Amino acid sequence: MRGRFITLEGMDGAGKSSHLSWIPDFFASRGIKLCVTREPGGTPLGEALRQMLLNTTQKSHPDTEALLMFAARREHIAQVIEPALSSGQWVLCDRFTDATFAYQAGGSGLDWGRIEQLEAWVQGELQPHLTLYFDVPSQVGKQRTQSVREPDRFESEGMAFFDRVRAGYLKRLKQFPHRMHLIDSTQSYEDVKVMVESIILSNCF
Ligand code: TYD
Repeated sequence: MRGRFITLEGMDGAGKSSHLSWIPDFFASRGIKLCVTREPGGTPLGEALRQMLLNTTQKSHPDTEALLMFAARREHIAQVIEPALSSGQWVLCDRFTDATFAYQAGGSGLDWGRIEQLEAWVQGELQPHLTLYFDVPSQVGKQRTQSVREPDRFESEGMAFFDRVRAGYLKRLKQFPHRMHLIDSTQSYEDVKVMVESIILSNCF
């Protein structure tokens, strides 16, 4: 049987990375060993593109950013995601195409329809079965990232950019209410963990 495809999404500082630290063990304790990967990245080419996209202070044209994200994604699907799913393995991916809608369309103003075209070309029928979307207001996300590390290319954007990123995510959520689940990440770490566990249990087991 084909494996399931699960993605984690949310703006920078929403807390998805901290929750990524326990989710694989949660699945493992129920007998499922996940293939854990991330975007942009997940292959040597994808990781090189990640470096180029994130470790810079220079902004590229939003078309260029979207095309590079999808170039990395094409390779990632071909080399990692599709082989795993076809062999019955479940995949957990830290960000996927919802992030391109949120950041390049929402944040940077690229036409939504262009990304839909790329999505259809690069993914065909492939869509996540379940997406955990960690939601916080942009001020909260910004405060959290500022306090822990040097900002990367996207983290150094202003508050208005992140308001648009969030609006982009919420638009995707409206389009795909069955697959995408909103988690209120302004709650405490423990409360968020309980919410995530219950969404996973009711959707995956
Ligand atoms: P992130 O996943 O937050 O990693 P880290 O926790 O190491 O900072 O960083 C990835 C960044 O890339 C994030 O700011 C969102 C951005 N991004 C896009 O703009 N478009 C995309 O399609 C993807 C996958 C990510």
